[in-house]
Amino acid sequence: MSPSMIAPVVEEENRKYQKGVKHLCDNGVTKVPTKYIWPEPDRPIFTKSDKLIKPKQNLKLPLIDLAELLGPNRPHVLQTIAEACETYGFFQVVNHGMEGDVSRNMIEVCKRFFELPYEERSKYMSSDMSAPVRYGTSFNQIKDNVFCWRDFLKLYAHPLPDYLPYWPSSPSDFRSLAATYAKDTKEMFEIMVKAIIESLEIDGGDEAVEELEEGSQLMVVNCYPPCPEPELTLGMPPHSDYGFLTLLLQDDVEGLQILYRDEWVTVDPIPGSFVVNVGDHLEIFSNGRYKSVLHRVLVNSTKPRISVASLHSFPLTSVVKPSPKLVDKQNPPQYMDTDFATFLQYVSSCEPKWKNFLESRKIHI
Ligand code: OGA
Ligand code: NI
Repeated sequence: MSPSMIAPVVEEENRKYQKGVKHLCDNGVTKVPTKYIWPEPDRPIFTKSDKLIKPKQNLKLPLIDLAELLGPNRPHVLQTIAEACETYGFFQVVNHGMEGDVSRNMIEVCKRFFELPYEERSKYMSSDMSAPVRYGTSFNQIKDNVFCWRDFLKLYAHPLPDYLPYWPSSPSDFRSLAATYAKDTKEMFEIMVKAIIESLEIDGGDEAVEELEEGSQLMVVNCYPPCPEPELTLGMPPHSDYGFLTLLLQDDVEGLQILYRDEWVTVDPIPGSFVVNVGDHLEIFSNGRYKSVLHRVLVNSTKPRISVASLHSFPLTSVVKPSPKLVDKQNPPQYMDTDFATFLQYVSSCEPKWKNFLESRKIHI
């Protein structure tokens, strides 16, 4: 075939992938298309030169009991949170006060959303990063050279009355169940954020708490259908989260891995718990004390997986910088002031892979 004949075929292929992995699976895919095959060193389980497959390592993250945080044991729990944020950038939360029904209903209604016909889901497709609702696939489907095995629905959620009218109207109970979930997650975030600021031991942290309480909330629903060859691809590439704190709800299927001591380790899902992680803004705010850690998602050949990440931060109009209370002559700021426009510019100009964005804000002395 001459090159002029190949181009339209490739274009046609690419258009097909823009419809996402759920669409591929519904059409009976039996092999991972080349578009989704990651270079060997980036794949989940790599074969070493001696052909030994690396054994999978599971990790039990520090466990925070939120009820205990609100009781007399608070100082001790704050200490555990501080250590978790310094060492792993992640911890798990139990006894968080969210009714089991609220999280179960959220996962279940999201499952039903992704089971809608493609035409219904694609109504929410948009390349506008600040659209109130955005349906899409991969990580950045315009920029990614290699695609990942994930479809998503992103919903801005705070202030809720501003955004709710844009949320999907189908399934018919989607808005009410997702709104309850968003409000309850926001409450949990507020408890967490007070604890995090207190754990940084900064005087007068109330100002930051107030700003964060009025801040942004973006809910990202991730759908990872079963994949015929999970060893060749990723559900999500290594990334850190843009934001202050992420509260992640996963169903009972494992898949999340975090980078710990240069190794990818799998986080054990604990039923009914939340995984909480430090985002780029908290790393900047804490002037590098708390770590926004790289994580990625693996897929598997048998079980579909749904997760809901709720990303919370300062208002989109704020400038994020190291807390003045943590900066002095001995501790100069390690990050440049950062705003949402800079981030948008960054993601639309290059492929956001690894933790490039945060790296780009570091001051190298
Ligand atoms: C994310 C994310 C992890 C998961 O949405 O940013 O890291 O387990 N999700 O789906
Ligand atoms: Ni993430």
